[in-house]
Amino acid sequence: CGIIGYVGDRPALPILSTGLSNLEYRGYDSAGVALTDDAVSVYKKSGEVSELQGVLPESTDHTRGIGHTRWSTHGPPTDGNAHPHTDCTGRVAVVHNGIIENYDALREELSDHEFTSDTDTEVVPHLIEESLDAGAEPRAAVEAAVDRLEGTYAVVVTIAGVDEVYATRRDSPLVVGHAEDGTFLASDVTAFLEHTREVTYIEDGDFAVIGDDGLSLYRDGEPVDPTVETLEYEADAAEKSGYDHYMLKEIHEQPRALRQTISGRIDAEDGTVNVDVDLPSEYVDSVDEIQIVACGTSNYAGRYAAELLESIVDVRTTVEVASEYEFDGGRDPWRTLVVAVTQSGETADTLSAIRRAKRAGARTLAVTNTLGSTIVRETDDSVFIRAGPEIGVAATKTFASQVATLTLLAVHVGRARGSLSYGRARELLESVRRLPNAIQGVLDREDRIREVAREYADSDAFFFVGRKLGHPVALEGALKLKEISYDHAEGFAAGELKHGPLALVTEDTPVLALLTDGSRPGETLNNVKEVQARGAPVIGAATADGDGEAAADSTYLDVELPVPATGALEPLVANVYWQLFAYHVADEKGRPIDRPRNLAKSVTVE
Ligand code: G6P
Repeated sequence: CGIIGYVGDRPALPILSTGLSNLEYRGYDSAGVALTDDAVSVYKKSGEVSELQGVLPESTDHTRGIGHTRWSTHGPPTDGNAHPHTDCTGRVAVVHNGIIENYDALREELSDHEFTSDTDTEVVPHLIEESLDAGAEPRAAVEAAVDRLEGTYAVVVTIAGVDEVYATRRDSPLVVGHAEDGTFLASDVTAFLEHTREVTYIEDGDFAVIGDDGLSLYRDGEPVDPTVETLEYEADAAEKSGYDHYMLKEIHEQPRALRQTISGRIDAEDGTVNVDVDLPSEYVDSVDEIQIVACGTSNYAGRYAAELLESIVDVRTTVEVASEYEFDGGRDPWRTLVVAVTQSGETADTLSAIRRAKRAGARTLAVTNTLGSTIVRETDDSVFIRAGPEIGVAATKTFASQVATLTLLAVHVGRARGSLSYGRARELLESVRRLPNAIQGVLDREDRIREVAREYADSDAFFFVGRKLGHPVALEGALKLKEISYDHAEGFAAGELKHGPLALVTEDTPVLALLTDGSRPGETLNNVKEVQARGAPVIGAATADGDGEAAADSTYLDVELPVPATGALEPLVANVYWQLFAYHVADEKGRPIDRPRNLAKSVTVE
């Protein structure tokens, strides 16, 4: 979910409205705003922010207010469950990110209050109402309410007739933006970047008061001086640039994104890289395990990297789904490097995994696309993937840039430890350098993949298979397709097909196979024969021969897709075929590709 707030000299409504549009990547189930003067006026609506914008007044005189865009946790995405939530009198309005774990008990305690939503959040305005009725000052009433909450939260409160907006957090980010003509408050800086880059990050437990004089900050009840930082951040107003969807634009942006990722980081002559990371060489030498934690597509980028890391760095490397992660670092936790891969830097599961690792004493490193994100502030080191803003919910270019960045990181660590030879380092760096052009080669064949997607769009299900580096790509291919087309798709290690999934294979279940370098094409071809013998059509992405045609044994392939030779990164290049396939199947079905149902770009609850 996303939060925005404003107190200042300017009309609040347009600031809140654009702030919510900027935050929509955090959820788009429903949205709302509360505008405050002597009363609180609340507007809220289920659906995307544009639905809310349709019911907002043209303009108002309010100069303070709060807003929220939601990704449902408690209760379906109805108008009533949209934030802000109010008390019985309508004096208090609250927006909240996170989950209030004791809301059932609190609701019971507040049984004489009339609740109008199914949300956990609604207990907060009612608790504040109780304190106000008992004579508490507004700020004290909010503090007392927050004291009662268990769970995770970023809470922002506005009260009728009160000039200040109150905010506090526990394990859910909040940031204040300072400008000449007002003060902003948000769950992340993207909400207000067009207005200011001067920011203060609110720490857990701190209590923020935003008034006409800006921010006042309290820690344990005592005032503290806020630390103001200036962000070096390009607010890139992303446009579709003629593409029908952001996702398609972002798929096509991959060569450019990768050039940015790589730019200035490779010294091919020396076989070295500079990834602007401050890992001391004594530390690198002493690392005895690397643990990668990530969710969704970032997790698959992590799996790809782990395959490479183990061979390059010669250190045991594991990958975990962040929500399943428990730190296990042996006797000297500091010698375990825990790497969080997260394009947004805000995914709650990943943040929580990193906090567990830190508490246990591990060193932490973030690989992210978002400068100034929570993960960057909470880890010991960070590496920026430089893919540029990604708007489509289905991650595409960030996957490629994450894998490329992790490959560079692996070369850096491998060279520093002396486990990676000069020759192999040069070979890997050459693969990275070839990536943008190789991916362009695949993009140039979009017409063909569109045809294939249309031909197979109505199949019963889709299976993606690959071995080694091809396995995470099979998982990612299936994830893309299911996310945006809503078709049943699954990814398997090719060798596992015969241990179960083969029972599902029919002539209506195309199998999409990776037959490139780095994915054991010879052995995978045996599995391809097994499915073909059962009537399934096979779409194979295989290393191109000298004539640019797929070099795999085409007798077994119904569709051959040539992948430009790129060594260990060939499966990553082939992945672009799977992205285009998913896109065109979904497009054929008229799906809302950039905003698939039930999903959010960044999931900020655990
Ligand atoms: C959400 C998105 C996925 C994304 C995952 C991890 O579930 O819908 O596309 O892969 O979060 O996001 P992150 O920002 O941590 O990479």
